[in-house]
Amino acid sequence: MPGVSEDGLLIDNLVVRFGGLTAVDRVSLYAPVGRITGLVGPNGAGKTTTFNACTGLNRPTSGRIVLFGTDITRCSAQARAQRGLGRTFQRMELYDSLSVAENVALGLEAALAGRRPWGMLGGRRGEQARIREVADEAMARCGITALARRRPADLSTGQRRLVELARAVAGDSRVLLLDEPSSGLDRSETVAFGDILRGLVRDEGRGLLLVEHDMSLVMRICDYVYVLDFGRPIFEGTAAELAVSPVVRAAYLGSDDNSPELAAIEVGA
Ligand SMILES: Nc1ncnc2c1ncn2[C@@H]1O[C@H](COP(=O)(O)OP(=O)(O)OP(=O)(O)O)[C@@H](O)[C@H]1O
Ligand SMILES: [Mg+2]
Repeated sequence: MPGVSEDGLLIDNLVVRFGGLTAVDRVSLYAPVGRITGLVGPNGAGKTTTFNACTGLNRPTSGRIVLFGTDITRCSAQARAQRGLGRTFQRMELYDSLSVAENVALGLEAALAGRRPWGMLGGRRGEQARIREVADEAMARCGITALARRRPADLSTGQRRLVELARAVAGDSRVLLLDEPSSGLDRSETVAFGDILRGLVRDEGRGLLLVEHDMSLVMRICDYVYVLDFGRPIFEGTAAELAVSPVVRAAYLGSDDNSPELAAIEVGA
């Protein structure tokens, strides 16, 4: 995709094999800044494996990962983060011994730790103030300022999801990979969550790549959607096109006759 691949994350013909299993089979996608790109598909389709290849947690068998025009396929996870790639995890990983504000600040501290040369300790005080400021902004953006002093263990799932999002936002990544960030949220929480994601794109010009099982959220907020099934790309297009795709319907029907994803697609159609 020459010409368009400079401003975001490009996955080019990615293959990831685990022994005899091809978990990701020639997947290409583009997640530019200023857009929410959806990555969906039934359980085991290869979505998280694709994310892990992007962030450096697994090694692609073949293919390329390109971030803002630079090939990062062989870069360390740290180097990818420094170039502007952030993520959240499918299973939440918050520290219950820290406050919400401290958990959120970790997002930026982790990014800075890699950049800080040895011997620059004199800059630490200004850095701490900056970290607090960025964490405050991220909490405000995610609507959790009032929770700053609480411990994650005392919060609802919906609130914990927002803390996790705020931590990723504080990391200051221009492209964010979100792995099922709304899982466990009720309907109204999911709607509010979607509005926050749209705000990150609209107001800050970030790019989001969203793995999500909640198809009503995908249909509402994604600008463009890719669908995987058994590791293979089976569809790409807008939410409106997704809603009427027989291929996507068949993939979800094959996975479960009562699939909530299929029901949401049908409502959107
Ligand atoms: N480290 C691993 N070793 C071996 N097989 C793996 C490994 N990680 C994932 N797999 C397999 O690769 C396939 C894709 O898994 P992946 O977790 O990427 O799916 P997913 O689309 O994220 O599914 P879900 O919607 O359930 O989260 C599955 O068959 C899974 O069992
Ligand atoms: Mg997954």
